[in-house]
Formats: sequence, structure tokens, C-alpha cells
Amino acid sequence: MSKDASDSSARSDAKGEGDATDEGSRERHPLAMETLVSLCAARGFIYPSSEIYGGIAGFWDYGPLGVELKNNLKAAWWRRMVRERDDVVGIDSAIISHPRTWEASGHVEGFSDPMVDCRTCKRRFRADQIEGERCPEAPKKRAISDCDLTESREFNLMLRTELGASVDESTTAYLRPETCQAIFSGFKRVRESARQKVPFGIAQIGKAFRNEITPRNFTFRSREFEQAEMEFFCHPSEAEHWFEHWREFRLQFHKDLGFDERLLRTRPHAADELAHYARAAEDIEFLFPFGWQEIEGIHDRGDWDLSRHTEYSGKELAVTDEQTKERFTPMVIETSVGIDRTALALLVAAYRQETMENGEERTVMGFHPSLAPIKATVLPLSKKLAERARAIHRDLRKHFNVFYDEAGNIGRRYRRQDEVGTPYCVTYDFDSEEDECVTVRERDSMNQERIPIAGLKRYLTERLEEAS
Ligand code: GAP
Repeated sequence: MSKDASDSSARSDAKGEGDATDEGSRERHPLAMETLVSLCAARGFIYPSSEIYGGIAGFWDYGPLGVELKNNLKAAWWRRMVRERDDVVGIDSAIISHPRTWEASGHVEGFSDPMVDCRTCKRRFRADQIEGERCPEAPKKRAISDCDLTESREFNLMLRTELGASVDESTTAYLRPETCQAIFSGFKRVRESARQKVPFGIAQIGKAFRNEITPRNFTFRSREFEQAEMEFFCHPSEAEHWFEHWREFRLQFHKDLGFDERLLRTRPHAADELAHYARAAEDIEFLFPFGWQEIEGIHDRGDWDLSRHTEYSGKELAVTDEQTKERFTPMVIETSVGIDRTALALLVAAYRQETMENGEERTVMGFHPSLAPIKATVLPLSKKLAERARAIHRDLRKHFNVFYDEAGNIGRRYRRQDEVGTPYCVTYDFDSEEDECVTVRERDSMNQERIPIAGLKRYLTERLEEAS
């Protein structure tokens, strides 16, 4: 399996910023990536892993706001894909599987990119990405193709580890490069224990690892990332129907996250792009500042996976149709979305800068309220009012992720919340002591409403539920 065939955006990394799939198109989201990257670090969404050591390429840490955003996204996926459906069940499998898994899946043999090394600067490049690129060591002097390069060789992208205490008895194992293989190897167990009949699906969210030669574009191409995958097993005669169904269902999911439809598109794979297991594939793409890029793949994997695991394990994974008594190996329709890529798309789409009526500028992260890391912030107008305001905060935080802020003037506190996308600010002022009401300010319209403290939880619940 070529890694390019698996994640189609990889094939054109050499273009522009390096990730554009639409090689001819210059279409880009207008946001400058540097602006977003610095906001993410400054506000605690995402920052380089092991930053105090200078970071490590392809690894990122999610801070207090980033983890909430990512958890909200994963919860939305799980609710839509598992909880709201009768025909999909969830699992959480181990990151490390029996090494034979990766022989059966084709990853040991062919999950690779072509790579060349520079004998002078010792840098490593993807052989299919050097055309037209300058040498990073001496960009003014030479192109990479003029460096002293080794022959191209295949570089397997799986991250290896050794299991076992002694060198002699240790076994090479792999950190999974995709989450779905444990769904295939556990197919029989899950089908029987969950009493499911084909057609049905198995879903999971989890970490995946790829030793990307050129991680780039912030979290877009990382070495450690999260996937949310669902494998839907069906009769061969129904594969086309389910492919259509899942493509529409998944596209709707992205629209419901609040993405402007102009930032989303689907792109069917050309025949020469298809992974060897795929009979058809379509990407859902988002318009990033570095061009149209895949955030999700919908794949018709045929019976490749179950047949291969049957062959390599010796355990039959075919099923019998109870009515017709037909014995068949189910076909698989896969939906595979990158959580980090979708979170990055949410951050890109949410960012806006605007001038208010008073002429001041504000930065707003316009997240859909159901995805916003903080749902509401309680602000006492004066520190003298802190006791009652804190009591409101304590009460609300049992139900939502609510923040408390008493530092600085109220305008600055509103700005801070706008910048992290908090949809509601709840201000407790001197009148609150008399009328038992608070002022609720909505992030986008900046409209303010006076609400009884006793009805606050209901007020927020209705609005947050309406939005989800
Ligand atoms: N099981 C099929 C599979 O893994 P893929 O197209 O290689 O297919 C699916 O990956 C999704 O995983 C992609 O659409 C992307 O969102 C995400 N993904 C793949 N490689 C990634 C990387 N290096 N960094 C971040 N996300 C990645």
C-alpha cells in the first residue's frame, strides 16, 4: 500500500505550502496561518510538544482550551455516529495489535513513501516532493535536486517499538497507523457480543501514528494524530447504496459543525489515486490557508480487509444470511475523519477580526456554541461582588464548562472571551443584588439581556441545545 494512496493529500506536498491537492488551483482561505498558530499558542489551544526543548517535529500538545474543543468535536462525532444509530456500535481497541495484523493489512509490505537523503547536510526529503524546491540549507545557492542525493528508496511510515524484556526475545510491534484494523480483526467478536446483523457498523476514535517524512502545516500533517473511523459491513449488492448514504451523512455532519458550505467540497478519487484495497473513494475537503485539503475519506474497501484477516489468522470472518442462507464475506464502507484536521478547520473557520461601533477592534473565535471550549463566563462587575458571582459560577459549572473572571475592566474581559469563542458572558452587577438578575451578553451580536439568576441554567441550556 502506498501511503499516498491512503491519504491522498500527501501526493502533492511539494506544491506551494506543500499540501494542496488541487495542483492547478490557487484558491486559499484568506487567513494567515501564522496568525492562527500564534493565537493557538497564546490562548492555550495548541502548542508544540516539548516546547521547552525546541519542540519535536510532527507532535503537538492541546492546551486547556484545545482539549475542550477536541473533546466536544469527538463527542459530536460519537453522538451522531454511534449513540443516535441502531446500526453502529462503538469500541476502544488497543493501540498495539498483533504484528501479523499489519502483514494482513498490507502495511508492512507497502505503507511507504519514496525518500532520498542528502549526503552533505544529512537532511531527508520525499523523492516525489523535491521538484522545484530549494535546499533548506542553502536556498539561494541550489535546488534540492542539485544536492548530493542518495538513490530513492521506500521508507515505511509505521512507527516501530520492541515488546518484551530481553533483546533476544523481543518482538517488533507497531504503533497503529490507522485505527480501523482492530475493527476488522474484532469483527466476529463485536458482531456476536453486540447481537448485530449485517448491515451494521463498528466505530472508534483513537490515536494513530505515522512517521511522516515531512510533517507540516501546523497539525495538518502530524506524526501522532487522532482518527474517528467507522467501518460499515454490508452485503455486496448493497455496497453502492451504503457508500452514497455515508458520503451524504458525513458531509451533513461537517455542515452541522457550522462550516460555511463554501469552505467544504467533496472530491472523488481518480482511478490511479485509489489505494489497492479501495474500489471507490471520495474525500471531504476543507479550504485551508494552504489550499483545498482532505479532512475525511469515504472508502469502499470491498471485502479486502475481512478476506485478508481470514487468510492471515486462519479464522473465517464470513457471515450467513439467516433468510437466504447465503454465506458471504461482507463488503466494507469506511468513513475516516481526522480529528486534528477537523479541529484545525474549526479554528480556521472560527477566526475573524472585526471593528466594533466604538471603533475598537476585536478578535472573535465564532465557534458553534456546542463546540465552544467555554460555554459561559461569569464576570462580577466589581471584586466586591465576587462572592455571589462565584456562587453562580459554582452552580453553572455542574452543567457546562463555565469560566470565572474578575480581572480587569469589563470591556477587556469581554474581549478575552471573544478571543477564545465563549458564546455567553454573564455579568453580575450592583443591581443584581437588588433585582436577582444578571446581564447575559451574546458573543456574535453583542446583544445584552437581563435574565433572572434562577432561570439562568435553563436560559443557557435552551440556547446551547438549540445550537447542537
Ligand atoms: N483507514 C483509512 C485511513 O487511514 P487515510 O486517508 O490515510 O485513511 C484518514 O486517513 C484521515 O486521517 C485523513 O482524512 C486525515 O484527516 C487523517 N490523517 C491522515 N494522516 C494524517 C496525518 N499525518 N496527520 C493528521 N491527520 C492525518
